[in-house]
Amino acid sequence: MNDKVALSPEAQAGSHCPPAKYETLYRHSLEDSDGFWRDQARRIDWVREPSVIGNWSFDPVDIKWYEDGVLNLCYNCVDRHLPARADQKALIWEGDEPGVVRSLTYAELHGQVVRMAHCLKAAGVSRGDRVTLYLPMILEAAVAMLACARIGAVHSVVFGGFSPDALRGRIEDCESRFVITADGGMRGGKLVPLKANVDAALEDGPRVDAVLVIRHLGNEVASTGRDIWYDPEAWADAGELPCEPMGAEDPLFILYTSGSTGKPKGVLHTTGGYAVWTAATFHFVFDYREGEIFWCTADVGWVTGHSYIVYGPLANGATTLMYEGVPNHPDFGRFWDMIDRHQVNIFYTAPTAIRALMREGDDPVKAHNRASLRLLGSVGEPINPEAWRWYHQVVGDGRCPIVDTWWQTETGGIMITTLPGAHDMKPGSAGLPFFGVVPELVDAEGVVLPGAASGNLCITRSWPGQMRTVYGDHERFVQTYFSTYKGKYFTGDGCRRDEDGFYWITGRVDDVLNVSGHRLGTAEVESALVSHPLVAEAAVVGYPHDIKGQGIYCYVTLLAGEEPSNGLEQALRQHVRKEIGPIATPDHLQFTPALPKTRSGKIMRRILRKIAHNEHDALGDTSTLADPSLVDSLIEGRRNP
Ligand code: PRX
Repeated sequence: MNDKVALSPEAQAGSHCPPAKYETLYRHSLEDSDGFWRDQARRIDWVREPSVIGNWSFDPVDIKWYEDGVLNLCYNCVDRHLPARADQKALIWEGDEPGVVRSLTYAELHGQVVRMAHCLKAAGVSRGDRVTLYLPMILEAAVAMLACARIGAVHSVVFGGFSPDALRGRIEDCESRFVITADGGMRGGKLVPLKANVDAALEDGPRVDAVLVIRHLGNEVASTGRDIWYDPEAWADAGELPCEPMGAEDPLFILYTSGSTGKPKGVLHTTGGYAVWTAATFHFVFDYREGEIFWCTADVGWVTGHSYIVYGPLANGATTLMYEGVPNHPDFGRFWDMIDRHQVNIFYTAPTAIRALMREGDDPVKAHNRASLRLLGSVGEPINPEAWRWYHQVVGDGRCPIVDTWWQTETGGIMITTLPGAHDMKPGSAGLPFFGVVPELVDAEGVVLPGAASGNLCITRSWPGQMRTVYGDHERFVQTYFSTYKGKYFTGDGCRRDEDGFYWITGRVDDVLNVSGHRLGTAEVESALVSHPLVAEAAVVGYPHDIKGQGIYCYVTLLAGEEPSNGLEQALRQHVRKEIGPIATPDHLQFTPALPKTRSGKIMRRILRKIAHNEHDALGDTSTLADPSLVDSLIEGRRNP
């Protein structure tokens, strides 16, 4: 499947980056990194321009970009566009029900952000304070992020699908004293009780000073003394509220993400480098042209929503569409219907959505005309060539280039992708490194693998959008990313590089699952399972899943004297949903009298993974197991995923 799909002449016409320019810019970005990133920093308006550009080391780990620069990212996303774009739409929002639409021009966005910033200040939020956002996909989510950035507060957005317990952990970890939520959100016709979840998270838990509640659905919710009902009208006459001048290395946001061990990490991004990285990647990768409508279907609770619904598009003065709901509500034509109604030019979604829509056949797509589409994007997990071809041929009518963008919460923005206009595409390959990115493949011992090879993916040089630390635990940052291969950033992904230098991401090589593009640690699901009173031990592995990419397969042992039953299986599923959220719901649960362990007591996950994958003939050496006979009973008890 190494065959290339050539770019059409239409795709190349007017591109920001034809092939020769990519070569020149990529070389420049490596040979004169400071010069290159000084040029790119001109995409941003600085209060004080930086004189120092990159100042970083991976051993010891200390990363700074533009350190003496001063800027405000809200100013860059909103205020500076007012002279030229006051009446241009900045954000368009469509609710869960088709046709329920609101939008904000840049002037209106400015007004809304200033009002919310006033309200936050009046509630006691100061520069540097952490503010937790637990919101549906509504305009106010973007407004709240920008309002935090305006006053120098650090937002921590928690995906609205996380449970109260998961929310509580994330509020506690960053000692956030403020929460912004809404009465509720709608997804696929179902109400998500966000405010009630916040109340549950705060019960006997962290003490917060205020919960700002946005009225979105008007559903009945309980009130507590710490609630402030947000009324933008109350701040209509409060006047301008200037943007706080921030140091380039001042924190912009924290976003929790799962790792292979322990509780989720608070990934910290700072202001200047992230601003330049998201602005530059948005410009080049989506080849954004003046006046176009850009739609990224992610949720603002994930990094994709941060970088490519809010900061990247708005820094570029683009019009960005936000959608509250899900791809199949009220039917499987929803995305294509919205593309037509909003005349979307650039569409950015996840392989799991593409696969789910592909399963419904071509008719729901072909019922809509999609003529406005110019470019398609994919993010979040490897896209299988079959889904890629369907996306290209059916959704894009063979006209639109696809950018398959590889990146991570930690990288702040896109790292590996083809550029429209510059490169032919290979279905299933993310493509080539973005400017300034130097990927390296290494084997398990850290030996660098040149040329066409498969190995573990590292990045050898810093880039401006790189995370700076794990909030409150710098040592964990160093250990997680820089200790496996000293002096290199280790991504946790396996990867193949082919003879043309294209990168093919093969998936995580650590104990992180990618379920429908959502990152989950096996350890998180295991600790949710063992927190159930009847469970003794649990081991969780991923297995290939047609739609989700990976499914969650759980092996569970019960306390002595307890018997497996369908009822208990259901109860355990519910328990995991309650502990983490619906995205972590186990797909398969297998009760087993014991887990396969070595004589020293280490669980042999390799064997569990093989059994879940149905690769019973490839179990490898089982002689080191304390009880080799267990393998047969595990195979016998295997559930058919
Ligand atoms: O395994 C890679 C996969 O998603 C992981 C990062 O997840 P997260 O931090 O949640 O960010 C997702 C959105 C940027 C990576 O380590 N991944 C992401 N994009 C791709 C991908 N795998 C293959 N191809 C991609 N385009």
